[in-house]
Amino acid sequence: MREKTYLCPRKKIRKDMRKIVIAIDGHSSSGKSTMAKDLAKEIGYTYIDTGAMYRAVTLYALRQGFFHDGKIDEEALRAAIGQIHISFRYDPASGRAATYLNGENVETEIRSMEVANHVSPIAALGFVRHALVAQQQEMGREKGIVMDGRDIGTVVFPHAELKLFVTASPEVRAQRRVDELRAKGQEVSYEEVLENVKRRDLIDSTRAESPLRQADDALVLDNSRMTIAEQKQWLLDRFHEAIGQED
Ligand code: DC
Repeated sequence: MREKTYLCPRKKIRKDMRKIVIAIDGHSSSGKSTMAKDLAKEIGYTYIDTGAMYRAVTLYALRQGFFHDGKIDEEALRAAIGQIHISFRYDPASGRAATYLNGENVETEIRSMEVANHVSPIAALGFVRHALVAQQQEMGREKGIVMDGRDIGTVVFPHAELKLFVTASPEVRAQRRVDELRAKGQEVSYEEVLENVKRRDLIDSTRAESPLRQADDALVLDNSRMTIAEQKQWLLDRFHEAIGQED
């Protein structure tokens, strides 16, 4: 087979190079998904967005009417969890991987405010996490993945070769989310989004099941004042260090 090379600003990354697991955790709207996606593309790895998986379960629960006055009917969801199948497939229309729920492309729907407002209680359920973590570990068995989420470096892949923890101030993150939603034509107020960001931070970091926390051996990136290009270079440098290609 012909050897394939991927060009990056400083180095050539050969496809036969040692593959590693890159775990990226951090706060919501910290930009970690964009960073993780770009990095995966650059180095020829598979990108897995675990937040999309929790969002897809939430969408399923909303559609089935499992929420009553904002509260999830745990027993109904527990009984249905075996029927929820989530996968990622390449979408030629967008040129990216899209999230599929039981064979349906739900990429746009899982990004709505309605799903965002209901996802935290779903992600706090032990049986949901258990089912999704098992799928995530299976997806990373062959390595060569960039996986982003909240518990990747602590629970899903505690032995990942490279762990990153990404954050930015709540205000910066809320503004980024507003810009993103408005670009998609969804009219939202900054205050509403800031409130959602803060509430999710609190629930995500104080829940009993796999709370969001930084792994002891994670490298921290606060990107409040960094450009996309700077973040990209920072990530590539960390990747080269991790695979043993330091200058
Ligand atoms: O990254 P995101 O905003 O798309 O994540 C959606 C929700 O899922 C968020 O409230 C945190 C939760 N989540 C989680 O608990 N564990 C993960 N590995 C990924 C996301």
